[in-house]
Amino acid sequence: MPIPIPQQMDLELFPTLTKSQIDAARTSAWYDTFEDITFPSTVIDLAELGEESNFLHWLEADSIFLPEGSQGRYQPEPVTSDAGPSRPRSRSSSNASSSSSTSSSSEAAPTYYLPRTNAAIRDALEKYGGSVFPKLNWTAPKDAAFILPQTASGPLHCTSPADVYLLLKSSDFISHDLEYKRAYLGCQRELDSEDVEAKRVEVELVLKKFEDISPSREIRCFVRNNILIGITQRDTVFYDHLQSEETRDLITRTVREFWEDEIRENYAGGDDYIFDLYLSPNLDSARIMDFQPYRSSVDPLLFSYEDLLSILQSSNSIDTESARLPILRYIDSKAHPGANTNAPTYQSNMMPIEMIELSQGRNMQEFKEAWDEALAQGMTE
Ligand SMILES: Nc1ncnc2c1ncn2[C@@H]1O[C@H](COP(=O)(O)OP(=O)(O)O)[C@@H](O)[C@H]1O
Ligand SMILES: [Mg+2]
Repeated sequence: MPIPIPQQMDLELFPTLTKSQIDAARTSAWYDTFEDITFPSTVIDLAELGEESNFLHWLEADSIFLPEGSQGRYQPEPVTSDAGPSRPRSRSSSNASSSSSTSSSSEAAPTYYLPRTNAAIRDALEKYGGSVFPKLNWTAPKDAAFILPQTASGPLHCTSPADVYLLLKSSDFISHDLEYKRAYLGCQRELDSEDVEAKRVEVELVLKKFEDISPSREIRCFVRNNILIGITQRDTVFYDHLQSEETRDLITRTVREFWEDEIRENYAGGDDYIFDLYLSPNLDSARIMDFQPYRSSVDPLLFSYEDLLSILQSSNSIDTESARLPILRYIDSKAHPGANTNAPTYQSNMMPIEMIELSQGRNMQEFKEAWDEALAQGMTE
């Protein structure tokens, strides 16, 4: 039955965002407000540590070498005083510039120093019982999970600064956080500004306490015009517990109440946003996992953004309809077209971009030697 759409609900598919709405979704922006109802996290402000430019220099360099002293959970011997506290330099005395990374393989490897960042990561490791889950401003390096040995705890389980660096270096996803035009996608005003080419994103490293997550209790929720429109399971596989209507009603109630009581009045990112929750084992309470701006780069999972818009429009045209929001979408059969098979989730990102670039012009043997050398170097220092 077609539902008449009133004029005032003639919304665009995506809202126009402001820069402050996008910044509100950074962990550093929302963490203090929601500290009691989210995962314990530490935000490392690299600029405050005086290592932001060295960090970026290392991250963007065309090499796979890890910063000095980053291996192992505990603080290694301090770097010798001639190393300088935080300045990247080349081991090659004939070429002290950062461009040494493009030099031939016969030259020694470049060396990177991030001692204060190493120490801050180790502090977080100690505070959180030995393991952390890393993110940059908005995004986790999920596409690089395969680079660390698989543990029973789950992907992105880091027990040393080197683990954190290796994930960041190998991830294509987190590089989006550093590109101004991608970071502020959806904020036309910002992207139209004259000096946009010269602008850069302030980098922050977020370390969350690592927890064993049950993906069956992860959900994603969509808010538009300050209305909670939809909830979808985040891990799109068939789950038995979601087949019970009673369970689905419980989840919907929990989420609606949690949003009304905890988020709606307190989130500083405006009236349009997406948030992820982690439900308690009995599904009657939740913790915040993350916030995202309401924009196309966020996977709508079992919805499409067209669906979300039409749900919102129809709910507003008939008063009684709004009572049934949010709508919960779930996989209701093993043959559901949205159901994930065993395919790796981030198949298109299986090979980190730096590795692809590094491998160009080198054969596998040379590439492996460079890799082994980087690891061996880290282990002896
Ligand atoms: N503290 C944590 N410990 C372990 N795994 C986590 C933690 N936080 C998130 N995860 C897992 O990583 C996934 C991505 O986390 P999230 O913070 O939403 O990153 P992103 O915004 O990049 O998607 C989640 O779906 C969850 O399975
Ligand atoms: Mg997120």
